[in-house]
Parts: sequence; C-alpha cells; structure tokens
Amino acid sequence: MNVKKNLVAATMLAGTMTALSFMSAGTAQAQGALVMYCGVQEEWCRAMTTAFERETGIKVSMTRKSAGEVYAQVKAEAANPRADIWWGGTGDPHMQAAEEGITEEYKSPKMGELQDWAVRQWEQSKGRTVGIYSGALGFGYNTDLVKSNNIPEPKCWADLLKPELKDEVQVADPNSSGTAYTLLATIVQIMGEDKGFEYLKALHKNVNQYTKSGAAPAKAMALGETTAGIAFMHDIVTMVVDKAPVKVVAPCEGTGYEIGSMSLIKGAKNMDNAKKFYDWALTADAQKLGADAKSYQVPSNKSTPIPPQSPKLSDIKLINFDFAKYGSSAERKRLLSKWDNEVKNLPK
Ligand code: F6P
Repeated sequence: MNVKKNLVAATMLAGTMTALSFMSAGTAQAQGALVMYCGVQEEWCRAMTTAFERETGIKVSMTRKSAGEVYAQVKAEAANPRADIWWGGTGDPHMQAAEEGITEEYKSPKMGELQDWAVRQWEQSKGRTVGIYSGALGFGYNTDLVKSNNIPEPKCWADLLKPELKDEVQVADPNSSGTAYTLLATIVQIMGEDKGFEYLKALHKNVNQYTKSGAAPAKAMALGETTAGIAFMHDIVTMVVDKAPVKVVAPCEGTGYEIGSMSLIKGAKNMDNAKKFYDWALTADAQKLGADAKSYQVPSNKSTPIPPQSPKLSDIKLINFDFAKYGSSAERKRLLSKWDNEVKNLPK
C-alpha cells in the first residue's frame, strides 16, 4: 500500500463535498466540563474550545503543550488523570500512549467520513488514537537574510549543513516536540541510522537553539532571529500568509510527514463529554476551524475543504513513513535517548 499515493488521492478528493452540521447550535446550557490537552497552535486550540462550548454548553479547560510534553504529563497523571481528551499533536506519542494503555479505545460513528490514513492510524493503535490532520515536514529560510548575507538558497537537507549557515538553523528538541521527533525519524528513514546520526551531529554545529515547541523556528525565521528553520511546512506557510519574508522548502531528498492525532484519556473523569468532543472534532464543520485559525494542515474528514494555502502533498517527495515503528514505545525511547547522548550534548 503506497501511503503517498493514498494521501495524494485523498488530497484531491476532499474539498468538494458538502459539510454536514454535527450538532445544532444555540443549545448552550451548563452541561458539565471537559479538560483538554491541545497539541496544535494556540489560535486553533482556542477556536476549537470556543466553538465546542458554544455548541454544547460544556465548559472546556484547555492547555496547549507540545506533543512530547503532553505525553509525559498524561503518563505522569495516569493513576489519577486530570485530562479527558488529548487533541492534536503528532501521532507518535499518541501511538506510544496507546501501546502503554494510558489512552482509551473508542470507535466514533464518524469513522466512515475519514481519509484512509486517518483510519489506518486508528487501526494501528488498536482503536486508541485517530488521525485528525496531516502535513509534511520541511524547512524555510528568511529571504532578506539569505540575500543580505549572500547565502545560497538551501533546497535540500544537505544544504542545511553548509558553513554559511553556522548558528543560523533553528529546530525544536525532539524530547518535547513532535515536529523535531518527526525530523529525527525522517532523517533516519531517508539516510539509514548511522548516516542519519552523522547528519544530525553535523547539523548540531549549525543549530543556534533547540526550542521547546516545533513551530517556534518558523516564528523566529519570520522575525529574522534565525536564517533557516526546520518545521512542518504548514507552520511556515502561516508566516508567509502573514507576509513575513520567508520561503518554504520541500527538501529535495524527500521528507516525512505527520498524522496529527486525537486520543481519549483512560479513566477520564468526563468521558461522555470527551466522546462528544471526539465525535464533533471529526466532523467537517469542526475541522474547517483550522484554516480559519491559519492552520493549514490537510484535514482528515473527506468533506472538509483543503485550505488552498496547504502545501500540496502531491508536489512533495514524501517518504513511506513507518508510523507503527517510529510511534512504538521502544523505538521512540531508544531514538530519543540516542539523540540526547550523541547529538544534544555534543560540543560545537
Ligand atoms: O499546529 C502546528 C503543529 O505543527 C501540528 O501540525 C503538529 O502536530 C504540532 O504543531 C507539533 O507541535 P510540537 O512540535 O510543538 O509538538
């Protein structure tokens, strides 16, 4: 099964079907509470919170965190869970949580409306997590800085190692950030583990900062604080839409991608409300809120229009990303500790 082909076909299929409203609006009365850990950009987290509260009357308490941070928190709270639902963030820690049994199995009546890649995520996690969006990893650069410093425009992962970019590349820390873990897994899959780690060590020399959140390098690039930044391409597009002097690059060697996911927390105190949110978040109407909040991922509901700003997955050389392997608990732990030991603490 060719994952890229499926994604491309899905991309072309979506966008034309009529959206169905899942719940009738205007019935907002006090209907209890919901605690959500949110893994996307703050603006989108807030838009989802407000819309769900308006439609259901359920009061949502939302906290935004990066993927690895949410995973660590859910794990630490497993004996007495605080959160009910984990919405968004890269799929790998959702898969790890599923394997470790700290999230709950659920089959939404909305499953039939989803793209194959979203359903596959659910199947691979034995019903414990589901795909809500997808997007490709890439990098970008500040066009003003590249020009004024006479730096050749980077086009490939290999270009990010050039001496002209010494201390001019920013990327997140894969322990906290799902974006950066996607980079780690992507490089290992493209180059093989030995060469991949050689690449990451060489890249370390050019990295000015390992940020906590995956989208931070895109913002720093827009502000001219770093020449280049590695991030999901849709997060860099947001900067371009805001008229920052930034260019988005789909690396010439090929690149990985994410299946942003959603999971119910095992032992959730507000499980009924969490399931209501889960079903609603899979609807076309709810998924449209992403583009309104300038989040340009590819939505998982087949009827949600793909934002015209979304990087076209059909034009990008996507690798056949092994989500089951790189989302497995043992592999994720092993790769992260290898990165800590061999890359992060390396002198420059
Ligand atoms: O919302 C932006 C986004 O890039 C998502 O597509 C992704 O799942 C998430 O952020 C990853 O965030 P982080 O790298 O901070 O874990």
